[in-house]
Amino acid sequence: MSQPKYVGKMEWPVAVQIGKGLEGAITSETEIGYVDGEKGWLVYRGYNIFELAENSTFEETTYLLLYGKLPTQKELDEFKQKLVSYREIPGEVIDTLRKVPKTTHPMAALETGIGMLGCLDPDADKCTMESETEISFKLIAQMATVAGAIGRLRQGKEPVDPDPTLEHTANYLYMTTGKKPDELMEKVMDVAMILHADHGMNNSTFTTMCIHSTLSDMYSAIVGGIGSLKGPLHGGANEQALAVLLKLKDEEDATRYVKDCIANKKKIMGFGHRVYKAYDPRAKVLGKFSQDVTEKKGMGHLYRIAKRIEDEVIAAYGEKGIFPNVDFYSGTVYYAFGIEPAMFTPIFAVSRISGWCARVLEYFRDNRIFRPRAMYVGPRDLTYVPMDKR
Ligand code: SDX
Repeated sequence: MSQPKYVGKMEWPVAVQIGKGLEGAITSETEIGYVDGEKGWLVYRGYNIFELAENSTFEETTYLLLYGKLPTQKELDEFKQKLVSYREIPGEVIDTLRKVPKTTHPMAALETGIGMLGCLDPDADKCTMESETEISFKLIAQMATVAGAIGRLRQGKEPVDPDPTLEHTANYLYMTTGKKPDELMEKVMDVAMILHADHGMNNSTFTTMCIHSTLSDMYSAIVGGIGSLKGPLHGGANEQALAVLLKLKDEEDATRYVKDCIANKKKIMGFGHRVYKAYDPRAKVLGKFSQDVTEKKGMGHLYRIAKRIEDEVIAAYGEKGIFPNVDFYSGTVYYAFGIEPAMFTPIFAVSRISGWCARVLEYFRDNRIFRPRAMYVGPRDLTYVPMDKR
């Protein structure tokens, strides 16, 4: 059966400057958040992150990311009530999570749990602004419940039902540990959740937007975002950074470790950033928490070792713009509160679900499918070779 034939030869594309890893690529306009890499600034809807860390709560910040303004008390109360009303998850999700091997990484389990939520939601494929907004509320509420259940099942314990009287972060901690957090843990972890909620066009946010830009559903988009965040170059670095600290016995060991990484050009987890060439403002807040909380919990050595690593890395790489990022100190704080390292990145997802949903909804208002190109540098104008001639 003969086929149409090409006429003429392939044209060599004009050589273009490729930003490896999409460095410098601008995907879209946004009003949600801004990162100034040179100054080390992070802004949500015009408010700088230090002001929000000082004065806001995770629920209020989530409202700000979604709606573009700080809520009145009535608006915040109604929003919180909406999230509380969505905290419960169907029993089938727990049944599915029970089948996940205990050795599975919690982020892989989280993908499974969120995917199952999508299978059970009759509105999953409606794909209207109204349905995607309602599903965003469900996902913001239920990411915490699914992550909490995973945390409990990993320990061979029964999931804990959400407590409607607790604030969002406190309820997440309660569902993960089985204990209501004390005031210090609730306050510090709520600020950590504010810090992790949004961060420009990072890989996982771009992934969720990419998936949804095909008019696929919110659940599929968020499952993709979780898969991206799991990577050690992205949200998985918090777990990796702590694993290094736990292996080092003192500051001298920390110095030896950094010198070895430098000599062998090994990446140091929790350092460097595609955008920040200054100190990550989130690491400034988390570094202070790390010092205070590890001291209070009798683990001050962890902070001192981390601080030595920071000093050594900045001495060696500060000129190159390599400083601590959000993932360097966060793990010491979570560990000091008794959270197991494998559950660190799920905490990132329980927070970043707000930024993911806000940005997917923003782009959905004027959607166009993402479709970049690649520079073809392979062979050209070859003729098919029959098998007996190869
Ligand atoms: C997050 O994008 C976001 O906003 C992400 C995030 C968010 O909130 O969503 O901020 C959260 O993911 C923080 C990053 C967590 N990842 C890590 O801590 C892993 C370690 N960091 C590196 O792998 C790296 O810094 C990245 C992945 C964060 C950034 O990678 P880039 O921009 O591609 O940088 P690169 O690998 O091209 O490095 C540029 C240079 C290289 O040296 P040269 O070859 O030019 O001599 O800097 C060096 C790198 O070797 N370098 C490091 C380093 N990070 C960069 N050297 C040692 N240790 C490091 N951590």
